[in-house]
Amino acid sequence: MSTTPVTVTVTGAAGQIGYALLFRIASGQLLGPDTPVKLRLLEIPQAVKAAEGTAMELDDCAFPLLAGVDIFDDATAAFDGVNVGLLVGARPRGAGMERGDLLAANGGIFGPQGAAINAGAADDVRVLVVGNPANTNALIASKHAPDVPAERFTAMMRLDHNRALAQLAAKSGVGVGDVKNVTIWGNHSAKQYPDIAHATIGGRPAPSVIADDAWVTDTFIPTVAKRGAAIIDARGASSAASAANAAVDHVRDWVLGTPEGEWTSVGLVSDGSYGVPEGVISGFPCVSKDGAWEIVQGLEMSEAAQAGLAVSVAGLVEERDAVAELSLI
Ligand code: NAD
Ligand code: LMR
Repeated sequence: MSTTPVTVTVTGAAGQIGYALLFRIASGQLLGPDTPVKLRLLEIPQAVKAAEGTAMELDDCAFPLLAGVDIFDDATAAFDGVNVGLLVGARPRGAGMERGDLLAANGGIFGPQGAAINAGAADDVRVLVVGNPANTNALIASKHAPDVPAERFTAMMRLDHNRALAQLAAKSGVGVGDVKNVTIWGNHSAKQYPDIAHATIGGRPAPSVIADDAWVTDTFIPTVAKRGAAIIDARGASSAASAANAAVDHVRDWVLGTPEGEWTSVGLVSDGSYGVPEGVISGFPCVSKDGAWEIVQGLEMSEAAQAGLAVSVAGLVEERDAVAELSLI
């Protein structure tokens, strides 16, 4: 077992995703069974007491890998020495709130958190932004951390990716483990573009296994893209355990590597690949090698996929321009 614990900071620790996430991190599912973890929980002052309750429960699990839990209401202290930052806490859209209000409220959270990461994070820091609008919040945080390479700030597309795997497995009557290389392009929003063109099911091309283009266009894509809203409708609250699970999948693959020949979907800063404007944080097909994400290059995109990505990217550019207008980046 490695002896130096990895420091993992989780924001919004007392929220519903936090409650589903922390126990999985502490049990070793994030970084593997040989890596001790130190948890640092960041909350707003009103929620610190609830975070303390969660910390008591973490103690009561007697996780052998858990090397300590500290609770903060100050971002600079919470991110001091952080190796893995999970930025979950965000301002939800309230009644009567315009999109600009939401972006401004989140700018007030993710700007200072990015600055705190810039000031105190470990050199190998990796950040996953879960709080919505995740791609733009990641952009805001990254822009406030000029000393941290931009590709260390990622946004979560993995929940959409896992949703796509599940829909394809159910449609074709196989286990989810038989479905590989789906891509979720663009924004984590209803305008994302879930793409099965290069996916395989049981080792065969997904489009020929599914053999139903109308189902892909009229059922699969909208089901995956609108799944977040469907969960809210059914549960009366947004996805929590599945979001936490996706965060664990994302960081585990980032740190430990993606399986040979397989990619996943990651919200990563664009280098101009696939025509996505440089600097925007977009969903791409990615592999992780030696602890770093790389965009899978050279995939042929159908006209429909290009159009779907263009619509999604237009939304990202609009969000970027809105936060620039508000001087948040
Ligand atoms: P929640 O309301 O249950 O919890 C959010 C927590 O964040 C609260 O405890 C709140 O006190 C805390 N918080 C607010 N501002 C903070 C700040 N400045 N610093 C630290 N903590 C702060 O919400 P949830 O269900 O846990 O969801 C969290 C976020 O994740 C939401 O924005 C949600 O939309 C988003 N989400 C994203 C995905 C995705 O796939 N990217 C999936 C599901 C949910
Ligand atoms: C999700 O995808 O479940 C979340 O981002 C919640 C939402 O608002 O869609």
